Amino acid sequence: MQTVTLIPGDGIGPEISDAVTDILKKAGAQIEWDIQTAGADVLEKEGNPLPERVINSIKKNKVALKAPVTTPIGTGFRSVNVALRKTLDLYANLRPCKNIDGIKTHFNNVDIVIVRENTEDLYAGIEKQIDNDTVEGIKLITRKASTRIVKFAFDYAVKNGRKTVTAVSKANICKLSDGLFLECAREVAKNYPKIEYKEILVDNLCMQLVQNPEKFDVLVLPNLYGDIVSDLCAGLIGGLGIAQGANIGTDTAVFEPVHGSAPDIKGQNKANPTALLLSAIEMLKYIDQYEVALKIEKALNKTISEGTVLTADLGGSASTKQYTEEIIKNL
Ligand code: NAI
Repeated sequence: MQTVTLIPGDGIGPEISDAVTDILKKAGAQIEWDIQTAGADVLEKEGNPLPERVINSIKKNKVALKAPVTTPIGTGFRSVNVALRKTLDLYANLRPCKNIDGIKTHFNNVDIVIVRENTEDLYAGIEKQIDNDTVEGIKLITRKASTRIVKFAFDYAVKNGRKTVTAVSKANICKLSDGLFLECAREVAKNYPKIEYKEILVDNLCMQLVQNPEKFDVLVLPNLYGDIVSDLCAGLIGGLGIAQGANIGTDTAVFEPVHGSAPDIKGQNKANPTALLLSAIEMLKYIDQYEVALKIEKALNKTISEGTVLTADLGGSASTKQYTEEIIKNL
């Protein structure tokens, strides 16, 4: 039995969390949930959307499943998501993008894993006003962060039976910064002779992704390119409703869907729990509960490919509860 922190979030978060924990329980996952609320409601009650108890719970349990939380607008609080990544040093953003049978997209057989560096690059937030008409932003690339993210990508490839890791850069223009990223990637690649190592420029990658996405496997990218390319790939497989993600550090991981708290459909029993469920499946693989993960994956794929009980965003008319029960029936 593994204890996992569950952050049910707000907006549609609690509804999709209930759906996912129900499915995991019925599938036989060996998990005890340590439920920790965070987000807008918690800000009202506790004066902080991400209280210390949530961080302490994740530090203790090392693994968390997180539903979306609303970022309060107009308060001094930074996003809970950014705060979690920084506080726990979750340096790798993992975004598997795989076609699901039954969801119509322009391509079939997309099965790409994006590994995005999460801590530096232009997102380090080092900006300076030079004068009224000029702002300078620093693109920070370090050997330490580049080496550990590429190593993460190769280790992921080995653990998950992947064949190729492609390092993405714009080293033809950003010769020093992206040049250092590539130098680190080449060094790390030497330690993984069984995994093929490739390089590609980010503009060329974008063109090829919208022409032949099937040919890409694991991609490793600095922060900014990773942010943009991961959303492009989410679009390739059908968009937000099925886009999963995870933020992973040395010994701690937070699994979460890409979408937000969807306040427009909150409490209406309409939300699609698939992205959170896919995040939970990835979490089960991470904690080595592979069999349960594959069982749920199969039931989910069956439900979607049959296409009779789907939520509205997937073109159906089922409620969150009906869709959840159908997946449980297909386990
Ligand atoms: P959003 O992703 O919440 O919603 C965009 C649109 O997609 C809405 O029409 C919504 O109804 C729909 N949608 C999203 N998820 C859905 C689901 N599972 N099933 C069915 N429909 C779904 O993005 P928005 O409106 O920009 O953000 C709302 C709040 O969420 C903001 O406070 C934002 O800061 C927060 N947010 C939180 C994230 C996180 O916790 N990881 C990530 C992104 C946004």
